[in-house]
Amino acid sequence: MSKNKKIIIANWKMNLDLKSALTLSRSLSRSLAKIKTQHQVVVLPDFLALPEVIKNLDSRIYYGAQDVAPFPLGAYTGEVPLESLKQVKAQFVLIGHSERRQYFSDDSLVADKLKNVLENSNIVPILAIGETWEQRKKGETIKIIKQQLQTAFSKLDKIDSARIIIAYEPVWAIGSGLTVKPLEAVEAFQAIKKVLQAKSWRFKIVYGGSVNLNNYLDFKNLTDLDGFLIGGARLKPLDFVNIIKNF
Ligand code: PGA
Repeated sequence: MSKNKKIIIANWKMNLDLKSALTLSRSLSRSLAKIKTQHQVVVLPDFLALPEVIKNLDSRIYYGAQDVAPFPLGAYTGEVPLESLKQVKAQFVLIGHSERRQYFSDDSLVADKLKNVLENSNIVPILAIGETWEQRKKGETIKIIKQQLQTAFSKLDKIDSARIIIAYEPVWAIGSGLTVKPLEAVEAFQAIKKVLQAKSWRFKIVYGGSVNLNNYLDFKNLTDLDGFLIGGARLKPLDFVNIIKNF
């Protein structure tokens, strides 16, 4: 995680099978090779695709996983260990994405996952947080953001130096074509910054939720924004590369 660079992270979700993931990694590498960029570009393929995708990636592209086990190696059927992510030299791991929280009961595991990663590796966690539409309508956005950060950090007493990325992704904006108003995003970033500044960690804040070629410029110059977490738009390598080029 370079200090002054913007970071653009592509969450490939479970949208691609292995063959399509390999095709996308090749076309992304080709398209990216044609442009100059100072930004850090990160891709997050699924676990099975990751080691194969790595072989195709241009050396300027960083990579990571979409999730990680909350515990060390042991009898946890179906989980993917942090050790394996270290062995493939992943640099990043997403934790607490709203789809994990919604479909796989991840809320209660976020703190353990974060603890596992920060205590046992140099991998940079990308912690995703954000309010639902109902919570926003009730004016609870900032309260929810603070609560989610507190819960996520609740098991980290022993960590005094860390690098972390916070992805502010309003749940209602993910995959919906809707985005938060830029000024509302700034309020959220400020609340996040306040919590993080109380710690001596290095951190970046990125925005996610329906970011695409038509709207990313609305966010480009926002105070405290260090980059994007992009879902849908990363499936079109040219759109994705154009966002990187002009960000
Ligand atoms: P989206 O996904 O860009 O398709 O809204 C973002 C995310 O889920 O990280």
